[in-house]
Formats: sequence, C-alpha cells, structure tokens
Amino acid sequence: MAGGGMVASSGGTEFEAKITPIVIISCIMAATGGLMFGYDVGVSGGVTSMDDFLKKFFPVVYRKTQADDDSNYCKYDNQGLQLFTSSLYLAGLTATFFASYTTRRLGRRFTMLIAGIFFIIGVVLNTAAQDLAMLIAGRILLGCGVGFANQAVPLFLSEIAPTRIRGGLNILFQLNVTIGILFANIVNYFTAKIDGWGWRLSLGLAGIPALLLTVGALLVVDTPNSLIERGKLAEGKEVLRKIRGTDKIEPEFLELVEASRIAKEVKHPFRNLLMRRNRPQLVIAIALQIFQQCTGINAIMFYAPVLFSTLGFKDNASLYSAVITGAVNVLSTVVSIYVVDKLGRRILLLEAGVTDHSDNLGTAYAVIVVVMICTFVSAFAWSWGPLGWLIPSETFPLETRSAGQSVTVCVNLLFTFVIAQAFLSMLCHFKYGIFLFFSGWVLIMSIFVVFLVPETKNVPIEEMTDRVWKQHWFWKRFMEDETDDGFKKNGHAKVFDPVAQL
Ligand code: BGC
Repeated sequence: MAGGGMVASSGGTEFEAKITPIVIISCIMAATGGLMFGYDVGVSGGVTSMDDFLKKFFPVVYRKTQADDDSNYCKYDNQGLQLFTSSLYLAGLTATFFASYTTRRLGRRFTMLIAGIFFIIGVVLNTAAQDLAMLIAGRILLGCGVGFANQAVPLFLSEIAPTRIRGGLNILFQLNVTIGILFANIVNYFTAKIDGWGWRLSLGLAGIPALLLTVGALLVVDTPNSLIERGKLAEGKEVLRKIRGTDKIEPEFLELVEASRIAKEVKHPFRNLLMRRNRPQLVIAIALQIFQQCTGINAIMFYAPVLFSTLGFKDNASLYSAVITGAVNVLSTVVSIYVVDKLGRRILLLEAGVTDHSDNLGTAYAVIVVVMICTFVSAFAWSWGPLGWLIPSETFPLETRSAGQSVTVCVNLLFTFVIAQAFLSMLCHFKYGIFLFFSGWVLIMSIFVVFLVPETKNVPIEEMTDRVWKQHWFWKRFMEDETDDGFKKNGHAKVFDPVAQL
C-alpha cells in the first residue's frame, strides 16, 4: 500500500513522505465526522415530510398538507418546522468557538471524541422524543457535535496528509458528508413506509455515524502539528516518522517546531486573527463559506423531498429523486478527490461557475428539472462543496488555524441556517424565481476566485505565508513587515491599532 515518493513542490521545500496505510486509515476514520454532518443535513427533509412526524409535532402543518386550498409552494411554510431543521446549525455555530479552544489546547483527536459523544446523546434524545422540546434539545446536541467535528476533522486531515495528496485526503470529509446525505435519503425512502415510528428509525440510524466517529477518534493518533503545538515534541516526532513512513523527517519536523514556536507566542488567537497579516486567510475563509451556501445547495439538500413534491412528484417518487440527487453528489465528489491535487483548487472553483447556472428552474417538465438539479449538484460537489472546507483548513498558519477554522464553521453554519430558515418562505413567495436569485451569486463568486483566491496545491501547510500569500499580487501587501499608519509591530506580527488611527 505504501507508495514511495517525495513531496514535489514547485520551487520550495521537498519533504519526504510515503503514502502510508496509517495515514490513509486515520483519514478514513476521522472523515466519518462528515458522515454525521451529512446525515443530519439529509435526514430532516424526509422526516419533515412524513405524516406521522408532522401529526405528532406539527399538527398545524399536517392539516395544511391535507387541505386542497393552499398553494403547493406554501404548505410547509412554518417557522416551527424550519426551526427543527435550523436549530442544529445555530447550536453548531456557537459550539465551534468552544471547539476552537479544545482543538488548540487538547488536540484535534480529543475534539473529535467530544463531537462523537455529543452526537450519541443527541441521537438518543431525538429517537426517543416525546414532545417538541425533546426533539429540539436533541437537534441542539447534534448541532454541538457538528460544531466540534467540523472544527477538528478538516484540520486533522489537512495536517496529517502528505502535501501532494492533501487535497484528496481532506475531501474525504466532504465525501463522507455526501455519503451521509445519501444514506439519510435512502433510509427516509424506506422508513416513510413504516406507519407510526418510521421517523424514529430515521433519526435513530444517525447512531451509526455517531458511533463510527467516536470509535475512530479513540483509535487515531493526533497530528504531529497539534502534538508539537502542545509541547509534546518527542511524541510529535515519533508520530511524524510513523505517518510519513521514513526516518528522514528532520526538515518537516523542524518546520513544525518553528510553526509551533510562533503559535506559542500567541496568547489570544481570535485577536491575532484580526491582525492585518491574517486578513487574506480570514477574508477568503469567510467569503468561501458565504459563497458556498449562496449557491443554494442546501435548498436542495434539506428540502429535496419537499421540493420534488412541490414540483408534482408523489411522495415516494420525491424521495426517490432525492436519492438520485444524493448519488450524484457522492460520485461527483469522488471526481474532486482525484483531480484536486493535479488540476488545483482554482480550476475546480472556476469551472463550477459555468455549470452552476443550470439551476434555473422554470420548466414544467419534472424530468428536465431533475436533470438540471443533478447537473447543479454535481458541479457543486466537485468544487464549492469540498473546497469550501479544504481551502480554509490549509491556508491559516498554525497559530490561528483553530480560531480560523471556528470562523469558517461559524460562517458556514450561519448561512446554512439562514437558507434553511428562509428557504420555504422564499419558495412560497418567489416560487421558482428563488433559483434565479441563487444563480446570480455564481457570477460574483467566480470573479472573486479569479482575482483573490490563490492556488494552494502542493504547498506544504506550514509554508503558506511565504509561498502563497507573500507572492500574491493583491494579498502580499498584507504581509509586509514595515509599520505603516495605524499599525504597529508586535513580535513577528503587526497588530491593527485602532487607537493610533485616531
Ligand atoms: C456543505 C453543506 C452541504 C453539503 C452538500 C457541504 O460542503 O457545507 O452545507 O449540505 O456540502 O453536499
């Protein structure tokens, strides 16, 4: 299994690294954190279209679905129902800031373990829910799990991977997200047929990914970056030797020690994140997440069954279509795993701009609509889906990586929440025009990528500042060392000083 080879990085450091079984297995286990995220994304749409579930928790919506007089577009327009979906994201976007502390102080691995435990308790509450309070409490705990997992897993993958396949290994996270969504769609397809307790089974089967992540977190080693950052130098070196499959790890080890020395000087990571020299990574992380959500992907992922029934499909057919969308999502993500380290990040983001336009629903023909949705989903799945998680996790320097990842997760979940909360009302008011709104974003996103997103493939993770940001036509001005108005030097970094601006 072990493939020999060096990290071929254009003009920079070459670290020796084999593709060892331990790296691959660790990544596969850690990436199951994405499975849970995906399952939660996918399961709610199907569950909220099940009669028994609506009767028990949302009788008002149930009565609406039974009445003939209401427009199809507005049946599900209910704030309580939307809160069921979106409470998870609100919890997650708050929890991720606590997770920033744990990933930094206790490690990536331990943070994944906490996520697994949140997931298990959340699943139990959801499955046994007797009333709305219990149901929402369960969703909130699942949300905390997502906040912790999405914080730790992408960092873990980007750090443990050898540079030349870092993109591919990181995208295992997104692959798991898509498998989770597909799994949820399939489960819903079958449980929808079970009278009375089908929804409980749907919510309960989330226990499988929850257990996988928990066991995975117990078995993997932490990343050398995190071990060294926490002062465990000998252990970090040993792990590095093991995962790289060679004794020639000194250059990479020294680079990690240097990165951790700088990281240790930072006492307040979030304040540090606001420093001028961290502006490029911060802006890109935030923008990528906003753009990722403004593609409108989750309008499809959450509400595919609702959407398809709006388009005139019968209940079963609509879940069936959701399964097709889910499968397209998984397969297209695999494409990304293969090409991301060869073609690079930018190409993938840019070609998606062309394909994404196809989500203009306006036709009466349901089959054409399904095909269009699938084209849209596949374009997302090899670009903005995986890269939204990959790029932020690999571009921050060690000292702000955890804090930066919190902002990434927070913005992602915040915008996911906004779309989840608003979509059914928007669908009700704008009808298919809502998809025109999403298409408009694609142009803005592509322009942003052309000018402001640098290529990060094949650059060792602790060398981004020198090799990427300091070379970029626009962002390099944020990397200059000399003081300028309003900025003062602080150790190796400049600090924005608002007082000096007065
Ligand atoms: C996004 C999720 C989305 C999923 C779809 C992820 O990258 O963050 O919001 O549901 O992709 O596959």
